[in-house]
Amino acid sequence: MDLVKEINRLKKEKNAVILAHYYQIPEIQDIADYVGDSLGLSQQAAETDADIIVFAGVHFMAETAKILSPSKTVVLPDVNAGCSLADSCPPDAFEKFTKAHPDHVVITYVNCSAEIKALSDIVCTSSNALKIVESIPKETPIIFAPDKNLGRYIINETGRDMLLWDGSCIVHEAFSMDKLIELHKKYPDYKIIAHPESETHILDTATYIGSTSGMINYVKEHQDQKFIVATEAGILHKMQQEMPHTELVPAPAKEDNTCACSECHFMKMNTMQKLYDCLLNESPQIEVDPAIIDRALLPIERMLELSK
Ligand code: 13P
Ligand code: SF4
Repeated sequence: MDLVKEINRLKKEKNAVILAHYYQIPEIQDIADYVGDSLGLSQQAAETDADIIVFAGVHFMAETAKILSPSKTVVLPDVNAGCSLADSCPPDAFEKFTKAHPDHVVITYVNCSAEIKALSDIVCTSSNALKIVESIPKETPIIFAPDKNLGRYIINETGRDMLLWDGSCIVHEAFSMDKLIELHKKYPDYKIIAHPESETHILDTATYIGSTSGMINYVKEHQDQKFIVATEAGILHKMQQEMPHTELVPAPAKEDNTCACSECHFMKMNTMQKLYDCLLNESPQIEVDPAIIDRALLPIERMLELSK
């Protein structure tokens, strides 16, 4: 079967839209109607007039789409495509934490479950995190969750003293400093660019730190330069497609990592076959408890409003 042809046929027939993250496999990025970072994907999910949203990403992203468009059918090619960062923040423990600090404003990174969003005052993504934190009056204490690496980066950039949840992304913590130094010795004229989910010692080596879209735009604006890219390796597909002459190398991962470069095995669970199957069967569908949608919508809408 020609999967590309069949997916396009079904998409038209069912008035579906395919939204894909930059960490998806190249074939999925190429067939998607929109490829973007977490903020861009949420904006698309809020605005689409499609009846079905096929979310080629991970569970928390599809959940966010469902919260923003509850009347639409939202499907995820592999329902087990989770996220280590979202898993590091269980709702019961997080509720206890927020209750112990009732005077704090709760800012949560979008990489968390719908239940955690429902316990938040405002959500952020890596592309607007600094802006969202700076929108909170200076004297107001802040809880930031679940990513401690992004949290530390924001503290360093803004000077805000935030209480951090102890969560992290396994992919961005897999970069090896020793191997990165070795690689940079081999390619001394390459600039390092990094995603803020990476650890501080990696970020300290970077000439640019930003979201996946931010990194792509930075490379676009500096096409005469060469780059070592410290984020999930899927992003190189879009970078190389848009900047075919720019030399790019993925940042190396630690010895025990399954891949020499950093790949998110959750993101890579989605395949073209599963994309086709979920569109055909309209399953697995993402459902979110209406009571949770009620509470999680406002913090996401606040973020979208501040990101216009
Ligand atoms: P952004 O694409 O928003 O930078 O997020 C990266 C990420 O880890 C998504 O899981
Ligand atoms: Fe989660 Fe990290 Fe994978 Fe993004 S790259 S989905 S934060 S585990």
